[in-house]
Amino acid sequence: MSESASSGAVDETAVGSYFVANYPPFSVWSADAATSVATPALQSPPSNAALGMYLHIPFCRKRCHFCYFRVYTEKNAAEVQSYLDVVAREWELYAQHPAIADRPLDFIYFGGGTPSFLSVRQLKALIGRLEGVTPWDTAQEITFECEPGTLTEPKLASIRELGVTRLSLGIENFDDKILEVNGRAHRSPEIFRAYDFARSIGFPQINIDLIAGMLGETHDNWKACIDKTIELSPDSVTIYQMELPFNTTISSDILKGTGGFSNNVANWETKRQWVAEAFEALENAGYTVGSAYTAVKNPAHTKFVYRDRLWQGADLIGLGVASFGHVSGVHVQNIDSWGGYAEAVRQGQLPINRAYRPTDEERLIRELVLQLKLGTIRPSYFQNKYGVNVRTQFSEAWTSLNNDGYLARADDDLVELSREGLLRVDGLLPRFFLPEHTNIRYT
Ligand SMILES: C[S@@+](CC[C@H](N)C(=O)[O-])C[C@H]1O[C@@H](n2cnc3c(N)ncnc32)[C@H](O)[C@@H]1O
Ligand code: SF4
Repeated sequence: MSESASSGAVDETAVGSYFVANYPPFSVWSADAATSVATPALQSPPSNAALGMYLHIPFCRKRCHFCYFRVYTEKNAAEVQSYLDVVAREWELYAQHPAIADRPLDFIYFGGGTPSFLSVRQLKALIGRLEGVTPWDTAQEITFECEPGTLTEPKLASIRELGVTRLSLGIENFDDKILEVNGRAHRSPEIFRAYDFARSIGFPQINIDLIAGMLGETHDNWKACIDKTIELSPDSVTIYQMELPFNTTISSDILKGTGGFSNNVANWETKRQWVAEAFEALENAGYTVGSAYTAVKNPAHTKFVYRDRLWQGADLIGLGVASFGHVSGVHVQNIDSWGGYAEAVRQGQLPINRAYRPTDEERLIRELVLQLKLGTIRPSYFQNKYGVNVRTQFSEAWTSLNNDGYLARADDDLVELSREGLLRVDGLLPRFFLPEHTNIRYT
């Protein structure tokens, strides 16, 4: 999972996971724990953590060659509707459990896949049914991920009316040739049309996703992408470094050696350099770098509640096929097949496929590594919550980061990564893992 583990001695972008989304690694979660641990946790009284809802909308117009998410591109309208019915039923089932019943929702996230693939009618029906169970007026943030080519003006207006506060546009790149080579369904005119209209109707927050190192990317084109991003002036910009987990089309092409793609993904050093330049340009334009992946125009106003709550151990119910969640101290993941997921829900069962109850030490490590992605952590937060001095408990890891030049500051108030450390943070986080979780499969 670490960068070096996935790419061998050289720095090329080889097949393997890089991004650390959770801890302990998903490979130690088990089917046994789904019944022996998750079920009793849901039957017990609620925790006092914040509660969020994630809805996985697994439909896309096309599968991008680099995508590693669970998505479907061939489902017809009836199948989409049946999926949405199952998702709504899943929430009704959760709401009958003591750990969830009557709890207010603090944040909601429509992810995918492509939530904006849904029609206005489908969206209104889904949200109406979910709100019939739990009102959404307590939610501080409702995020909605969009692929620009799926957005019409009436659809955007409805998304706004439905209460979405944070619109996230998967732009990835502004160059039509690069979009095509990477299998994206949208082209640049759709970006500008969607963005301008979204801005004009007053979404409180618009985020743009970019990927550094798409197939065919060049330095000049990347600089042009950053210039265009700054011209659009979104509230926040998220920049991912292209990775190639096993389940992408590019990865299987590489593994089979079929040579289906004539362009390569840039190596890690180049991608870090491109993100460093993007961050510098964004900072010169008034943005603040708020994490390894994000720059924010106005940090006082622009928050990312979903990310921050999650990285501080909130409860999250992940609805939909293959979704991840965390409830009452237990990690859970849903069944990852279309039929198996729907069948379980239709039988009145929660479709949890694997689960894991982290120990206190593992929960501490989870929060520590996730919060390190912000670039700074506060030792007092961990002292108050876990009674642990993270500076002494993880002294070996801090020393190694310091020796490698990845720490900018380390005292009792704040530990801060250097920019070089921040740009490669996912490759550094395994240094904090327990020995039994290093050098094992991540997913
Ligand atoms: C679920 S998608 C966002 C919504 C919509 N599906 C879209 O792509 O426009 C989440 C984001 O993950 C990022 N992403 C997907 N595959 C990636 C990969 N292999 N490496 C880095 N980032 C990736 C893209 O930036 C994408 O916008
Ligand atoms: S990157 Fe987005 S649009 Fe492309 S296949 Fe993945 S989820 Fe769908």
